[in-house]
Amino acid sequence: MPEVSGLEGVVAATSSICDVNGIEGRLIYQGYDIHDLVAYSNFEEVVYLLWHGKLPTRAELEELRGQLSANRALPEPVLAAMRNWPAKVLPMDVLRTTVSLLSLYDPDQGDDSEPANIRKSIRLTARMGTIVAAWDRSRNGAAVVPPDPELDTAANFLYMLKGQRPDEESRRAFDICLILHADHELNASTFAARVTAATLSDMYSSITSAVGALAGPLHGGANVRVMQMLQEIGDPSRAEEYIRAKLARHERIMGFGHRVYKTEDPRAMHLRRLSKELGERTGDLKWYEISRAVEEVMRREMQARGRDIYPNVDFYSASVYHYLGIPQDLFTPVFAVSRVAGWTAHVLEQLRNNRLIRPRAEYVGPRNLRYIPIDQRG
Ligand code: CMC
Repeated sequence: MPEVSGLEGVVAATSSICDVNGIEGRLIYQGYDIHDLVAYSNFEEVVYLLWHGKLPTRAELEELRGQLSANRALPEPVLAAMRNWPAKVLPMDVLRTTVSLLSLYDPDQGDDSEPANIRKSIRLTARMGTIVAAWDRSRNGAAVVPPDPELDTAANFLYMLKGQRPDEESRRAFDICLILHADHELNASTFAARVTAATLSDMYSSITSAVGALAGPLHGGANVRVMQMLQEIGDPSRAEEYIRAKLARHERIMGFGHRVYKTEDPRAMHLRRLSKELGERTGDLKWYEISRAVEEVMRREMQARGRDIYPNVDFYSASVYHYLGIPQDLFTPVFAVSRVAGWTAHVLEQLRNNRLIRPRAEYVGPRNLRYIPIDQRG
């Protein structure tokens, strides 16, 4: 492996949005500890915090809630386009395409001032869940459920997906998932958004770049693969054999490990608790119990190899989403329903003090080769 790999440890921006302390296992949004935000806050308040750097007053929060409600519906031509897409396509492809498509119908497109970019951030954050739910209904031949202006982001998503209002426990559990996923410093998708923004391209291009980066299995695409793994294992008693066999084949276990955290990811403990609570409520603890068994085997097996590897945010979010009745292939799009808040916050921050992001590559290829005409090449 070359010495310079994956920009590990490289500080590529200054930011006041989010701090990840990988040694102490702490996560902070604009100065507030994630544990306090989970205990006392809600997704809309976190969105305001990420964009504006302070907690909103009651009036500011109500204003943002009203703006999100007013902008949740998708433009009719976007819904019409969706109706023509093949049902089998990947939901992340639909999400990426739809985010890009929305730029054609945004009245502020072409205006890259901060007020216009905040309006675009509101529309994108309001609509991300609508896209995911509308696509799920559309691909299943069901009528798209319009957003309910009385519901918050968490309740609206579950409502538009299933056609009935969620109970308070499900709403709050999903709201906590949204809080936990809202930002994570310079993760790959946020970095992609900032790189695109730094060329002075537009907000929609930046968020489209981010969705593309999120899709990969080493990033947001891990959560869907975690659920596939839990299903393959099928029973807690099979976890040990399954994990040991995978590790013997030098395969990665999805939902474990992190570039920054060298201790437990502070988000994982909330998701573990939610997985257990939702499992108990639904009377089906199987997925939680398989997850616990996998975690226990992984910790032991990795320690035996001299490594400390913990579950990351994608591990327990898989069983949580499953218990909430979210279809498996929507798990990664659901990550974006929340992370769009962080992506847009980072684009706004990047543009306030912009400089082109253009690193160098260390050239390790040949030099001074003599050009050979095509008919003389062997
Ligand atoms: N399973 C088995 N071994 C692992 C794992 C894993 N999940 N993660 C790291 N390792 C091993 C890896 O094989 C390597 O060992 P060695 O040095 O002997 O080859 C060592 O740990 C270091 O791994 P690395 O790939 O150099 O670490 P990284 O910082 O480049 O990768 C990671 C971080 C998250 C991509 C990686 O841990 C991974 O592939 N995890 C599984 C995918 C996953 O869960 N992704 C979600 C990431 S967090 C939330 C998000 O962004 O969505």
